Amino acid sequence: MENKKYYITTPIYYPSANFHIGHCYTTIIADAIARYKRLNGYDTFFLTGSDEHGQKIEKKANEAGVTPQEYVDKIITDAKDLWSSLGISYDKFIRTTDEKHCIAVQKIFKKLYDQGDIYKGEYKGLYCTPCESFWTESQLVDGKCPDCGRDVEEAHEEAYFFRLSKYQDRLVEYIESHPEFIQPVSRKNEMINNFIKPGLDDLCVSRTSFKWGIPVPFDDKHVIYVWLDALTNYITALGYTSENDDNFKKYWPANLHIVGKEIVRFHTIIWPIMLMALDLPLPEQVFGHGWLVIDGGKISKSLGNYKDPREYINDYGKDAVRYFVLREVPFGNDGAFSEESLINRTNADLANVLGNLVNRTISMNKKYFDNVVVNSDATLEIDEILISSVLSAKEKIEKYMDELKIPEALDEIFEIFRKCNKYIDETTPWILAKDENKDRLKKVIYNLLESIRIGAVLLSPYLPDTSKEIFRQLNTSETSFDSIDTFGKLKVGDVLNEPSPLFLRIDKEKLS
Ligand code: MSP
Repeated sequence: MENKKYYITTPIYYPSANFHIGHCYTTIIADAIARYKRLNGYDTFFLTGSDEHGQKIEKKANEAGVTPQEYVDKIITDAKDLWSSLGISYDKFIRTTDEKHCIAVQKIFKKLYDQGDIYKGEYKGLYCTPCESFWTESQLVDGKCPDCGRDVEEAHEEAYFFRLSKYQDRLVEYIESHPEFIQPVSRKNEMINNFIKPGLDDLCVSRTSFKWGIPVPFDDKHVIYVWLDALTNYITALGYTSENDDNFKKYWPANLHIVGKEIVRFHTIIWPIMLMALDLPLPEQVFGHGWLVIDGGKISKSLGNYKDPREYINDYGKDAVRYFVLREVPFGNDGAFSEESLINRTNADLANVLGNLVNRTISMNKKYFDNVVVNSDATLEIDEILISSVLSAKEKIEKYMDELKIPEALDEIFEIFRKCNKYIDETTPWILAKDENKDRLKKVIYNLLESIRIGAVLLSPYLPDTSKEIFRQLNTSETSFDSIDTFGKLKVGDVLNEPSPLFLRIDKEKLS
């Protein structure tokens, strides 16, 4: 029997009081995939959380005059509030300051030490504090951190090291023999050619220069390197090494880790080697997505080029923001964000195509049939064409979603709505309404209502609130994935709710 479980994760975020739309990107995508898998009958576990240790946090807390724990506690409420305002349906929110996580990380560190994969040595290197990353001279770009372009500083300290070098050949072999492991392929090539093949140095996995981290269990002068601490969240969240590890047994290995392109390196080198050392299976796939960029560059606090995402949600609605992110950017590439393109997308697709279709169909049903669902046998070829294309959408979308082609899947759903609008123009119900015999009108309106129902089921992982509102107006509980294998689930005689617009056109003048 097919194993219908699905475990999907986002990166765990650094607590930040400055969340921007780029931070929402990964999480909205992961949410849509998780909702899609649930709809498709998978026992799904969707994990997100926060990455709360490290020197950067310690510094910020000191500046704010609070303890690091107080500092992160306050921001975490804000993060959860943001995810809730975007309808993020995570099953667990892990914090790396959770006691259970800390205990598990210590157990893992000790196990790796006991088996000789972690050893004590002396570290001399170049460290980028904002990125919490050590770099070698050759990895620097113009003498600066290759990730953020800031200065790096020399660091010397007694430290523990993780024997990445021992696993190098096994890792290359694994990546080469599992082409789906790192996606898109361009990122796989980058990892192999730029990072792994030139030779993996053993990784420094402890620090003594600050305190805010998980102590090395047998040497508490040292705290455990944040990336080692953070990456293990994917298994500690499932109860790995704890008394209750049912979720671990059920869901591990992960089906998909979605991460931004700058952290693919950690997820496809350090993480798989940790898993190999722990003798655990590797995740099926790490997908490295591109960034949302503004004016061609990174969204950045120092450039002051962004708003709090909640402002967009308040102004345009949660589903408009979700739709933009899911539809506009080819997954894997960078994509431009601007408020103007968010408005254009909302107006063109959500208001003009979808909103208009649903509103005029339900309004016609009210006008001609007093909100009652009607049907007839007066079928023409044009109906068959519409119905067969509506029924064939599900399979196409399943294929796109298997390849994580979300914009293409959404476009396929909107193709249903566009075809329905065309069907209205071609069948001209307002002229049919003049006929004495209303059979043809009944058929046309029924086909539209049922096509909208099917479209709304398909749309539900991406725009959950919008689908819910369509189901409410259609007064239907036929919302399952199986229900759309059949055309004809709306029951004749049922009474629809009053029509009400789903999306209003946004006036661009609103842009200041
Ligand atoms: N804490 C680490 C992840 C540890 S996972 C074991 C981290 N946190 S982060 O807050 O800096 O970033 C979280 C995610 O947001 C990353 O995947 C990152 O790529 C993503 N994004 C941050 N800015 C972004 C854009 N402008 N566009 C798209 N995604 C971006 O990294």
